[in-house]
This record gives sequence, C-alpha cells and structure tokens, in this order.
Amino acid sequence: MITKPLYLVAGARPNFIKLAPLVRQLQRQGDLPHRIVHTGQHYDYVMSGSFFSTLGIPEPDVNLDVGSGEQGVQTARILERFEKLLLEATPSAVVVFGDVNSTLACSLAASKLQIPVVHVEAGLRSFDRSMPEEINRVVTDILSDILFASEESGVSNLSREGIPAHKIYLVGNIMIDSLEDTLPSALDRNTPTRLGLGSGDYALLTMHRPSNVDHEEILKCLMNVFAEISLQLPVVFPVHPRTYQRLQELSTYRVVSDHFHMIEPLDYLDSLCLQKHARVVFTDSGGMQEETTYLDIPCITLRENTERPVTVELGTSTLVGNDPERIWQAFRQVLAGNYKHAGQIPLWDGRCAERIAKILGEALAD
Ligand code: UD1
Repeated sequence: MITKPLYLVAGARPNFIKLAPLVRQLQRQGDLPHRIVHTGQHYDYVMSGSFFSTLGIPEPDVNLDVGSGEQGVQTARILERFEKLLLEATPSAVVVFGDVNSTLACSLAASKLQIPVVHVEAGLRSFDRSMPEEINRVVTDILSDILFASEESGVSNLSREGIPAHKIYLVGNIMIDSLEDTLPSALDRNTPTRLGLGSGDYALLTMHRPSNVDHEEILKCLMNVFAEISLQLPVVFPVHPRTYQRLQELSTYRVVSDHFHMIEPLDYLDSLCLQKHARVVFTDSGGMQEETTYLDIPCITLRENTERPVTVELGTSTLVGNDPERIWQAFRQVLAGNYKHAGQIPLWDGRCAERIAKILGEALAD
C-alpha cells in the first residue's frame, strides 16, 4: 500500500504532453496517489494552459510560478521553491519528464533530499553539450533511481554511462500515447481549412532552438530560405515566443512573400492537425521529429544532431542543420515524391503510461 503521493513535475510545453497519459493512467488505476506540480517555466495560456485543457490534465495541485529568466536564474528559482515544497511534505518519489530546465532542477532538489527520482524519457543523447537540454539529460539521468527509456538508443547510452541495468526500463514513447489519444479530435479541428490551406498543400515550419534563432545572421538566413521555399509551397510558421522576440530585434528584416504565414504558437490539437495534413514539416523540435515519424510525414530537421536517432534510422527525419543547400536538397526530394517513409518503431504503441504505472507500483511498494 503506497500512502505518500508521487509528485509529477512538469514545467514546459513538451512536458505537458508527456504528463497527460501518466495522469490518466494513475487516475484509472487509483492505487498510486499523486500530485501535479507545475514549475511555471512556461506560463502563457498558449504555451501552458491550453495544453492542460486540450489534454484533459487536471489543474496543477501546486504552481511554483518561476517564470522566465536566464537559465541559471530559472533553474535556481525552481530548485529553491521545489526544495521547500519537498520539505513541507515528502513524496514517495518525484517523476520528471524530458530534458527542460524544470527536469534538471527538480531532480537535483529531490535527490539531495534522498527522495527517489524517476525520469521519463531517459537516456536520450545528442552528444552536443552546446544544447542546454543535453546537460539537463545527462545530469538528470545520473541523479535518477528509475529510468524509463523511450527507444533502444536510450538504454545503450545509459548502460555505456555506467547506470546499472536494474534501474533502466525500455517502456516506449509516452508522447505517442498522447498522440494516439488525441488524433481524432485533432483532425476534427480542420486547422488547414481554417487557415485557407488544403491538405498536402503547405509546409509547416517551427524553430525555437537557440542555435537557430539566437544568432542574427543564422536567423535571417533561415527566414530567407523559408521565404523562398514559400514561393514553391506555402509555409505556415507558428512563432514560438523566444523566436518572436529575436525576430523583433531584427529591425531591418522584412519577409518578402505572400505565402509565408506567421501565426501565433499552436495548441496541441492544432499542431497535430497541421502536421498530419502538411506535405512536409521543417522543425528543430524533438517532439515533432517523433510525431511526424508516427504520422509518416516528411520531417526536415533543422539540427546537426538528434537525441532521437530512431526518427532518422526508422522514421521520417532528415538532419540538415541550418545549411540552405541541405534544406533545399531534402525539400526537392519531397517535391519529387521520393522522400523516405516511416517504419514501425518498437513500443510506440500508445501503452507506455500503462507500463510505467505498473513498474512504479511494484518499485514503490518494495
Ligand atoms: C524550453 C526548453 C526546450 C523546449 C521548449 C519548448 C529548456 C532549456 N528549454 O525552451 O527544451 O523545447 O521549452 O517550448 O528548458 N516565454 C513566453 N511565454 C512562456 C514561456 C516563455 O513568452 O509561457 C518566452 C520568455 O521570453 C522566455 C523565452 O520564451 O525567456 C524562452 O523560454 P524558456 O522556457 O527559457 O525556454 P524555451 O526556449 O521555451
């Protein structure tokens, strides 16, 4: 019998998509008490609240309201506030998701207080320490007591780093649970029609990684490439707040194409609907590499590396960095109709949360 609650921690947009299926599974089972802790890393309705409502996640029990800031400030604020919460009432374990600053800060606070840390989406590695997420992943995994991997590469990375095998479980991809649950209602949105676009008649673009948007020359170059691409295939570009700020700083820049549609960030359902009907997706998002693979939509990934190699090996992702020539080359393959298709990815079957809840129930009862 487990009496102390699990704390399920989420802070940023991709976390909410991973949190939802686990909450639903725990509610269904009723034997693992839990509380939802929102760090407040993301706070705008479109980045946070809309995900809670479309995914049916209950209101967080606690919101640490940390907001934005330099990564050191943001991480420190979460650490301080989460530790205080842990000291007020000790949970049975802390479950963290993915690789954002909230993931790192909360696992650090818990492990220093000897509270078991559970990492969902463990072991992913881009081997690129210039990405803040890579540092978050490596440190979180070292601190974790139970590590749930989404793909085989996660298991081999963890083993190579000396994490004992008994702590590692290959459970599949929890984002796919959300995707499967939500796809029918996402398709009901008819998002392309609302934007005046037909199915298969547009490209979807998202970018927010510091490596693409924080350097003026790179951002301008990418914007020019996609303005040109939009003359061949209309481009829809939901603009992440980080990217929006950077674009505002480019005072001399103007997009010169009527077919380049810059819109507000999308909620989860509109994002899935637009991905499903796109001819091609250009993105630097980790989650969208997985979603497009599941949906078998070409994904031209604006990164030099990926921590999700299965999306390249068996999926629809092609890594092109931010090099215009490589972007065009992959795009031309899509236009020519000879782009690769996705294969079946092991354990991406919509039952990941079920496996996680079963293992947690057994591990925490001991
Ligand atoms: C964070 C994650 C990244 C993830 C992304 C998804 C880290 C290190 N990065 O990046 O892995 O892919 O979330 O979106 O944790 N802002 C708003 N409203 C919000 C939240 C942020 O306007 O609700 C603005 C703020 O100006 C903030 C900036 O966006 O400074 C960046 O937010 P932050 O959480 O620091 O990082 P992301 O770029 O969103």
